[in-house]
Amino acid sequence: MEIVLCLCMFFFLIIESFTQDIIIPGQSIKDGETLRSAGGSFELGFFSPGSSKNRYVGIWYKKISPGTVVWVANRETPISDRSGVLNITSQGILTLLNSSNSLVWSSNTSKTAESPVAQLLDSGNLVVKERNDNNLENVLWESFDYPCDNLLSGMKLGRNFVTGFERYISSWKSTEDPAPGQYSLRIEPRGYPQLVLKKGSEILFRAGSWNGLYFSGKPGLEQNPVYSYDFVLNNIEVYYKYEHRNSSFVSRYSLNPLGVIQRFMWNERKNDWEIFSTAQADQCAIYAFCGAYATCTTNKSPPCTCLEGFVPRSTKSGDLNSVDWSDGCVRRTPSVCDGKDGFLKHTGLKLPDTSHSWADKSISLQECEKICLRNCSCTAYANLDILKGTGCLIWFNDLIDMTEFTEVGQDLHIRLAASELDRIQRLTIVVFVLYVRKKKLRKEDEKKEEMELPMIDFATIANATNNFSENNMLGRGGFGPVYKGILVEGQEIAIKRLSKNSGQGLEEFKNEVTLIAKLQHRNLVKLFGCCIKGEERLLIYEYMPNKSLDYFIFDKTRSRVLDWHRRMRIVDGIARGLLYLHHDSRLRIIHRDLKTSNILLDNSMNPKISDFGLARKFCGDQTEDKTKRVVGTYGYMSPEYAFGGCFSPKSDVFSFGVLVLEIVTGKRNRGFSGPDQDQTLLGHAWKLWMEERPLELVDNAIGDSYNVAEVLRCINVALLCVQQRPEDRPNMSLVVLMLCGESTLPHPKQPGFFLERNLPPAADSASSKQELYSLDGSTITALEPR
Ligand SMILES: *[C@@H]1O[C@H](CO)[C@@H](O)[C@H](O)[C@H]1NC(C)=O
Ligand SMILES: *[C@@H]1O[C@H](CO)[C@@H](O)[C@H](O)[C@H]1NC(C)=O
Ligand SMILES: *[C@@H]1O[C@H](CO)[C@@H](O)[C@H](O)[C@H]1NC(C)=O
Ligand SMILES: *[C@@H]1O[C@H](CO)[C@@H](O)[C@H](O)[C@H]1NC(C)=O
Ligand SMILES: *[C@@H]1O[C@H](CO)[C@@H](O)[C@H](O)[C@H]1NC(C)=O
Ligand SMILES: *[C@@H]1O[C@H](CO)[C@@H](O)[C@H](O)[C@H]1NC(C)=O
Ligand SMILES: *[C@@H]1O[C@H](CO)[C@@H](O)[C@H](O)[C@H]1NC(C)=O
Ligand SMILES: *[C@@H]1O[C@H](CO)[C@@H](O)[C@H](O)[C@H]1NC(C)=O
Ligand SMILES: *[C@@H]1O[C@H](CO)[C@@H](O)[C@H](O)[C@H]1NC(C)=O
Repeated sequence: MEIVLCLCMFFFLIIESFTQDIIIPGQSIKDGETLRSAGGSFELGFFSPGSSKNRYVGIWYKKISPGTVVWVANRETPISDRSGVLNITSQGILTLLNSSNSLVWSSNTSKTAESPVAQLLDSGNLVVKERNDNNLENVLWESFDYPCDNLLSGMKLGRNFVTGFERYISSWKSTEDPAPGQYSLRIEPRGYPQLVLKKGSEILFRAGSWNGLYFSGKPGLEQNPVYSYDFVLNNIEVYYKYEHRNSSFVSRYSLNPLGVIQRFMWNERKNDWEIFSTAQADQCAIYAFCGAYATCTTNKSPPCTCLEGFVPRSTKSGDLNSVDWSDGCVRRTPSVCDGKDGFLKHTGLKLPDTSHSWADKSISLQECEKICLRNCSCTAYANLDILKGTGCLIWFNDLIDMTEFTEVGQDLHIRLAASELDRIQRLTIVVFVLYVRKKKLRKEDEKKEEMELPMIDFATIANATNNFSENNMLGRGGFGPVYKGILVEGQEIAIKRLSKNSGQGLEEFKNEVTLIAKLQHRNLVKLFGCCIKGEERLLIYEYMPNKSLDYFIFDKTRSRVLDWHRRMRIVDGIARGLLYLHHDSRLRIIHRDLKTSNILLDNSMNPKISDFGLARKFCGDQTEDKTKRVVGTYGYMSPEYAFGGCFSPKSDVFSFGVLVLEIVTGKRNRGFSGPDQDQTLLGHAWKLWMEERPLELVDNAIGDSYNVAEVLRCINVALLCVQQRPEDRPNMSLVVLMLCGESTLPHPKQPGFFLERNLPPAADSASSKQELYSLDGSTITALEPR
C-alpha cells in the first residue's frame, strides 16, 4: 500500500513538475509542482518533513534521494493542507498564500524591478532579480541571505557591520519541524570575531577566531581537496564562506536539531551522505570545559591542565576524580604589572575566547608584546595571522576555552609575573637535571642540589656586555659566540651565547647545565648560572683573563711565559681536574673533547678545564659506552673512539696524554712536522723515547732550566696514556700518583697512532670523511664510525 502510494506520488511529481527554473509574475507554483535548477542539481517545491502533515516550501537536492531539504521558506508558518501557492508579484516579492488567500510567507526587498523573475540557481540559491540581469550582485532578494540549518557552497556566514544584517545557521526544532530551534551557528562580532555555536544566548562551542588559515579551534581542514574557503573581515563586514573545488562535489555543513555541527559529503558509490567532519568531537569541544587559565587535552585523563604559572582555583578541580573543572585556575603569583612582568609562550593551542580582545592587522608581534605589557589588564597576546606571521591579538580578560593540540595549534604568549617566569625556567632546568640524575640520587638530594643553579636576568647580562657588543666578544665557538661582561658590582664574567634556533646549541646547553651545574673543582671552570629568555640560551661562567692554553703554548713568543715549572703545574692541574671528573665527582663524567683550547688559564695561570658541551655522564659500573656519532677533535681522539665510537674514561686519558706531549714539546699533534716527514708527534716522541733521547722533545722556549726527572716522568706518563689499547692506559688516579710520585714507572707500549698517514686500511672511508670535517684544532661533529 505504502509503496503504491509512493510510486503514485513520484509519478505525480514527474508529470506535474515544471521543467523550468524561473517563475514570472502571473505564474505560480502550486503544491505538487516544482521548480528545477537549470543543471538539475536542486529542486524547489512543497514538502512535509518526517511524518508531519504540514506543508512547507523548500529547496532540496534533485539528484539525491531521499530528499535532503537544505532551505525552507515558511519555516514558522506551515500550511495545513495542500492548497499553498507560491507567486511572484510584479514588484518582485515572492508570496506564499493559503487557500483563504492569506499571506503565509513573503520575501522582502527594498529594491524594485521592472521585470522581476524568481530563479532557482544550480547552487541551490533562489534569487529574485531583473529578468535580463544575470549579475548576482544586483539580485533583489536571495535565499542564501536567509540560511536555515545548512551552509551550502557559496553561502556567507557572518554580519554586515553597516546594516547590522546577519547571516547565520539555525537548527530545526525537530526533524518534523523546520522552525528555528535553540541552536545557532554564527560569527560573534564582539571583540575579535569568532565562530560560535549557541544555544539561545549561551555559547556551547567555539570554533574560534580566524587565524589566516583556519578557525583556531578547527585546524586540519585548511588543506583539503573538497573545498576552498574565504574569511573576510573589514570595516564593512565579516564573513566566512567555502566553495567547492569541483562542482561535481556535493557537500554541506549542517546543524542538526540536537545542536551537532557536521560536514557531509555525498558518496556516489554508497548513495548516501558521509560525515566528512564533526566539529564537537569530545568534551574539549564543550565551551570553557576546563574553566579559566586551563587547557583541555583530548584523550588525556584528566583532560584539564592549568597553564604553567597557574594553580587550580579550588581543591575540587585539583581532584583527579572530579568531573567539574569549570572553576579553572588562578595565578600562583599575581602579576604585578610593575614593568617586570614577562610572557611565557605556549604552543599548539586553540586560542582562548576572543570576546574581550583587541586586534590590529598591522602590528608586529614585538610591538604586540609591548602594547600588552603596558596595559595591566592585558593577559596574553598572539599572532593574528599565522599565514603571514603578522598582526596582533590581545586579550583583556581571563583566558577561557583553550584546547591543546598535539601537532597543530597556535602560539599564545601569556603574561606572568617576573618571579613566576624565573621559577618556571628554573623548574625546566631542574626537570632536565632530575631526568639525568634520577637513577643516581635520592630524592631529597635532588631538590636541594638543583635549586642552587642561579638564573641570571637577561637584562643584567645585556647590560654587562654592552648589549653583546662586538668589542666584548672573546671568541666564537662552534655553538655560538663568547662574550666578556662586567656586572654592576665589578665582577667579571664570561658569557656563552648559544646560537639561536640551533638544535645543537640547545642540546649543548642542556648538557652543560645538566652536567656541570654542581661540579666544583679548582681545575674546572665554574658555571655561575644560566639565563633563558625567549629563544636566548646563555651560560655564565667565571671569567678567565689569560685565555686558553693554545694561545700560549703554540706561539713562539708567548710560549716563553710558560717555563717548565708553570707547565708542570698546568699538567698537574689538568690531571687533577680530570681525576675529579672521572672518579671524585658524584657523577662520573667523560669530557670527550679535551684539548689545549679547552684548557683556560686564570690570572695565576692555573689551568681550568672548560667546555662540557660534549661531555657524557658515565655510570659507575660502566666501563665503556658506544656512540653512533663520534664527536671530538681530530688529533686528540683515541683510536678506539675514532674508529669504533667507543668512549670511556680511557679515551679522555688518551687525549690527556696528547695534551701533555703538546705541553712538553710546544707542538701540535695535529699538523706536526718533525724531522721525519712521515711521523706524528706521538710517533716522534715514541721514536725518541725508544732511542733514549726523550729530552730532545722539550720545547726550546723552555730553555735549559728544567727538572730532568720531572720532564722524563711527564713524557713517560704521557706515553703510557696514549698507548694503543685502552686497558693498557692508566686511570686518572694512577696518572696523578705517577706524576707526583717518586716510584719507577712502567715502560710504555707503542702509542695508538691516530693520523691519516697510518690509519688501518679498513678505516680508509672514515679517514676521507675526517679530512672533510677536520679543521685545524676545531671540534669535529657528525662523523659516523664504520
Ligand atoms: C498567483 O498566481 C495565480 C495564477 O497562477 C493567480 O491566479 C493569483 O491571482 C496570483 N496571486 C497573486 C497574489 O498574485
Ligand atoms: C490561512 O492563513 C491564515 C493566516 O495565517 C489563517 O488564519 C487561515 O486559517 C489559513 N487558512 C487555511 C485554510 O489554512
Ligand atoms: C522587510 O523589510 C523591512 C524593512 O527593511 C523590515 O522592517 C521587515 O521586518 C522585513 N520583513 C521581513 C519578513 O524580512
Ligand atoms: C571534477 O570531478 C570529476 C569527477 O570526479 C572529474 O572528472 C573532473 O575532471 C573534475 N574537474 C576538475 C576541474 O577537477
Ligand atoms: C587597557 O585596555 C582596556 C581594554 O581595551 C582599556 O579599557 C584600558 O583603558 C586600557 N588601559 C590603558 C592604561 O591603556
Ligand atoms: C646597567 O649598567 C649601568 C652602569 O654600567 C648601571 O648603572 C645600571 O644599573 C645597570 N642596569 C641594570 C639593569 O643592571
Ligand atoms: C642596550 O639596548 C637598550 C635598548 O635596545 C638600550 O636602552 C640600552 O641603553 C642599551 N645599553 C647599552 C649598555 O648599550
Ligand atoms: C694573566 O692575567 C693577569 C690578570 O689579568 C695578568 O696580571 C697577568 O699578567 C696574566 N699573565 C700572563 C702570563 O699573561
Ligand atoms: C685505577 O687503576 C688502579 C690500577 O689499575 C686500580 O687499582 C684502581 O682501583 C683504579 N681506580 C679506579 C678509581 O678505578
